[in-house]
Amino acid sequence: MASAIFTDCSSATKAVAMTSARLPPLSKLKDQQGAVISPRSISFRPNSRSYSLLNTVLYTTRAMASSASLSPVVMAEDSSAKIIDGKLTAKQIRDEIAIEISRMKESIGVVPGLAVILVGDRKDSATYVRNKKKACETVGIKSFEVSLPEDCSEQEVLTYISKFNDDPSVNGILVQLPLPSHMNEQNILNAVCIEKDVDGFHPLNIGRLAMRGRDPLFVPCTPKGCIELLHRYGVEIRGKRAVVIGRSNIVGMPAAMLLQREDATVTIIHSRTKNAEEITRQADIVIAAVGQANMVKGSWLKPGAVVIDVGINPVEDSSSPRGYRLVGDVCYEEACRVASAITPVPGGVGPMTIAMLLSNTLDSAKRVHNFK
Ligand code: GUN
Repeated sequence: MASAIFTDCSSATKAVAMTSARLPPLSKLKDQQGAVISPRSISFRPNSRSYSLLNTVLYTTRAMASSASLSPVVMAEDSSAKIIDGKLTAKQIRDEIAIEISRMKESIGVVPGLAVILVGDRKDSATYVRNKKKACETVGIKSFEVSLPEDCSEQEVLTYISKFNDDPSVNGILVQLPLPSHMNEQNILNAVCIEKDVDGFHPLNIGRLAMRGRDPLFVPCTPKGCIELLHRYGVEIRGKRAVVIGRSNIVGMPAAMLLQREDATVTIIHSRTKNAEEITRQADIVIAAVGQANMVKGSWLKPGAVVIDVGINPVEDSSSPRGYRLVGDVCYEEACRVASAITPVPGGVGPMTIAMLLSNTLDSAKRVHNFK
C-alpha cells in the first residue's frame, strides 16, 4: 500500500494513499497519453534521443562492438517511443469477439455466459465488476452477477461457486479479488472448476502454465493482455531478455511464465532483489507490475527496450480537478526517451485485461460446445 511517498518523475507530486475510496472509477480512465499509432512491427532499436549521456555511451559502445542486433545510435530530434495502444487494441479484440459470438449464436443458438462474484464494498472492485459486466453486454456475453456483503461467510461464496459450476449456461466464473480478510482465498479459487476458471487462477491451470509440454485451459487475463500487446505490435520475444518487476500471483508470476514459454530469458525482480536497476537495464522487454508510482526511471532502461507498464497508481496532482492523476510503475516521460515502445497509463494494459476475460469466456464456451 503506497501512501504519501514522493514518487513522481519530477518529484513534484506524491503518491496518494491506495484506499479504495481514493481510487478513481475505471469509467473515468478514458484519456490516452501520447499519439495513437496503428499496431505495426516494432524492432528493438535504440531510441535516438538517448535518455542520458551514460546510456548513450553505454549503448554506443555496445553498438560499436557490434555485439547487439541494434541499429546505430542516431541523434535525431523526432524520436520518442511508439505508443502501444491498449485501448485501441482492446476495442479491436472486443469487435473480433462480438463477431465470433454472433456466429456462435446463429450456428448453435447459444451465447457464452460469465458469472462474477463480488464480496464486500470496495469501490475499486465494484467498478471493475461493473466494467466487466458492461464489456460482456457489448460483445453479447450473458453476465450473471452476485454481490455479497463484506461479512458473509466463506461457505456462502462456495455455495454460489458450486451453483455456477453446475450451471451449463455459465462458461466462466470469476471471484473478484481481493476477498475480505476472513476468507481463505485459496479455498475459494480451488473451488472453481478448471473448465470455467476464466481468471486462470486455479492451481491446476497455473501448474500447467509452469510446465513444459502442458497447456493451461486459461491464462490469467492481465499477463495474457501484456503478451497479446507484444504479439499484436510485432515485438519479437524469442531469445530476448525479459525482466518482470513484481512477483504477484495475478500478474508478475504468470507474466514471467508466459514470457518463458515464448522462449524469452526471464528474470523476476522483487522486493529483495539486489541491483534491480542494473538487471532491468539488460532487458529487451520490461513488464512492470509492482504497484509503485514511477519506480522505474529512464536510466533503468536499455535503449530500445519495449516497456509494458501494468501499474495504475494515483498520485496527487493539484492541477487536476480530482486532485490526483494516474501514473504507471514506469516514469513515462523519461522512458519515452529511451524505450522503442511503451504502454501508456491509462490506456495501455488496463483495457486489455477485460478484453482477455471476454476472450477466455468465449474460448470456454467454444470448448464445451465443440464449436470451431
Ligand atoms: N483483482 C484485480 N485483478 C483481478 C483479476 O484479474 N481477477 C480477479 N478475479 N480479481 C482481480
